[in-house]
Amino acid sequence: MNNILTISHLSKIYQSGFQALKDINLEISKGEIFALLGQNGAGKTTLISIICGIVNPSSGQVLVDGNDIVHDYRNARSLIGLVPQELSTDAFETVWNSVSFSRGLYGKPPNPAFIEKTLKELSLWDKRDNKIMTLSGGMKRRLMIAKALSHEPKILFLDEPTAGVDVSLRKDMWELVRELKNMGTTVILTTHYIEEAEEMADRIGIIRKGELILVEEKQSLMKKLGKKELTLQLQSPLNMIPEELNIPGLILSKDQCELTYTFDSNNNQMGIVELLEKLSKHGVVFRDLHTTQSSLEDIFVSLVNEGEHINEV
Ligand SMILES: Nc1ncnc2c1ncn2[C@@H]1O[C@H](COP(=O)(O)OP(=O)(O)OP(=O)(O)O)[C@@H](O)[C@H]1O
Ligand SMILES: [Mg+2]
Repeated sequence: MNNILTISHLSKIYQSGFQALKDINLEISKGEIFALLGQNGAGKTTLISIICGIVNPSSGQVLVDGNDIVHDYRNARSLIGLVPQELSTDAFETVWNSVSFSRGLYGKPPNPAFIEKTLKELSLWDKRDNKIMTLSGGMKRRLMIAKALSHEPKILFLDEPTAGVDVSLRKDMWELVRELKNMGTTVILTTHYIEEAEEMADRIGIIRKGELILVEEKQSLMKKLGKKELTLQLQSPLNMIPEELNIPGLILSKDQCELTYTFDSNNNQMGIVELLEKLSKHGVVFRDLHTTQSSLEDIFVSLVNEGEHINEV
């Protein structure tokens, strides 16, 4: 069996009567990185909490490497590491003890070499004897990951791993997730940052009001939405685009200070390098350039905002 996680017809109605999940069906393969996108209250944490056995499902089934999360709870749970959205730590404990204790909770025999490796990978080795309350916010988040990895789980859930984390730490986190993938760990993460999903995920799922409205390979999603825009800020304004530069997709801004080039990676349009060579040959000098590819963001925003179901992009 290649699926590490199989979710079938999963629904959740909280005691208040609120339906947080509606008929979720999803299969995750071993070693995959799956990003779950959705607005506040969409149901991401509820879904993760059910898989991790923190919240009871109302109906449906979840199998973790073949183990039913209700009937084979202990087996299922031992395969899972969770970094929850709300960080809670024991302020007076040291980093080393806290991670060792987490491992022990799962009944795993002590393995100092493994914990050392994990702390080194997470750049926490120097802080191993520090009390948790002396760590920075980003370090605490990394500690939570170390704790979640302490019992060598096969699947790691990261619920908003980079919320409130600075840019460089966010990049470190991405790097770490890639390393985990290389080591064979399956990673399921939730995020509000489209960029993060684009950067890391093999597949992307979008959840809206408790429904999984789209699940797609990132590559094919990006290909379908593969429009990019290149903006060139000109050294000096241009009255008009020279005749020879009449290239489909190239437009001069109203203030004549910017050229934008919209191209579709699926079309056989002129490449950027060729375009830039042509521009310089015709004496068009620019002082800055940047590209944008916000299409995934566009589709996400329209999907979550619109009332309709969209099965096909
Ligand atoms: N214990 C509970 N009782 C009743 N309703 C709940 C409970 N927990 C969550 N909900 C509701 O379920 C919905 C989904 O919440 P959930 O925490 O899963 O969202 P989320 O997608 O993780 O959002 P966020 O991006 O803000 O973390 C929300 O409307 C929330 O108010
Ligand atoms: Mg949440």
